[in-house]
Amino acid sequence: MAMRTFKVWRGDREGGELRSYEAAVSEGMVVLDVLHQLQATQAPDLAVRWNCKAGKCGSCSMEINGKPKLACMTRMNSLPPEQPVTVQPLKTFPVIRDLVTDVSWNYRQNQRIAPFKPVAPGPDGQRRMYQEDADRPQEFRKCIECFLCQDVCHVLRDREGKERFVGPRFMIRVAGLEMNPLDDDDRIPELKQHFGSGMCNITRCCTEVCPEHINITDNGIIPLKERVVDRYYDPLLAVGRLLTGKKLRTIARPELARPEHGSPELSRAEHPGPEQAEPELVRPEAVARTRSA
Ligand code: SF4
Ligand code: SF4
Ligand code: FES
Repeated sequence: MAMRTFKVWRGDREGGELRSYEAAVSEGMVVLDVLHQLQATQAPDLAVRWNCKAGKCGSCSMEINGKPKLACMTRMNSLPPEQPVTVQPLKTFPVIRDLVTDVSWNYRQNQRIAPFKPVAPGPDGQRRMYQEDADRPQEFRKCIECFLCQDVCHVLRDREGKERFVGPRFMIRVAGLEMNPLDDDDRIPELKQHFGSGMCNITRCCTEVCPEHINITDNGIIPLKERVVDRYYDPLLAVGRLLTGKKLRTIARPELARPEHGSPELSRAEHPGPEQAEPELVRPEAVARTRSA
């Protein structure tokens, strides 16, 4: 058992400060254990959001020694023993109290993404896709919505950036839909015009902090940016589309005419039809790909 100094941010929307606490730390403890110990012994009113204590609910996101981390997955023995442990709320989102931040901005971004829109079934009533196409977006579905990537993204740290970019978490949600050949929605215009794909300059900070080790930048954001470039800035592809008569996947949704960022966010109710469950996938013997992208 060793004594460690903790500097924990205490305060609310009006302001706050780092307060020092001494805590007895034993082998195997994680930062969340220490915060619970402080609540039990020295700071009963310390506000901390947590739920699963297993790295799966994404609730205990905070900044530990200045880095976005899950408190329940940060072992005390991974932190330098010679210096105090600093624990602060996520900097990108407004504080509610102590270590609890208001992350509702993220939920509003989520609502702006149109739900899965299945392609029409084939003549036999089935929808088919290659296994590799099923595997590809699977990585993005590991997201636990901890918003650590949103916290670290320098575009979102700037308040004005929040009005222009949905952030890495929602770029991979769009990527999961866009890379699904059974999704019939054209998401490229929205990515460029409303979701701010051009704002990301591929620093890869989001990928570094993701506790689910999702390769956000290389597997999600870069392919989306490439699709935007192909659509809007590649004259050869545009001419090729003209010559071959190759169609874009779908017609862009009419709501793309809506005002850009900063306007009231689109609610799911504004999108046509209720969210539809992804259809059962059938391994094909021979499958014609449903799109070229
Ligand atoms: S790679 Fe892009 S989305 Fe990720 S942190 Fe950097 S700017 Fe933000
Ligand atoms: S992508 Fe990773 S860091 Fe971002 S919210 Fe999901 S799990 Fe958290
Ligand atoms: S308490 Fe659920 S991820 Fe930490």
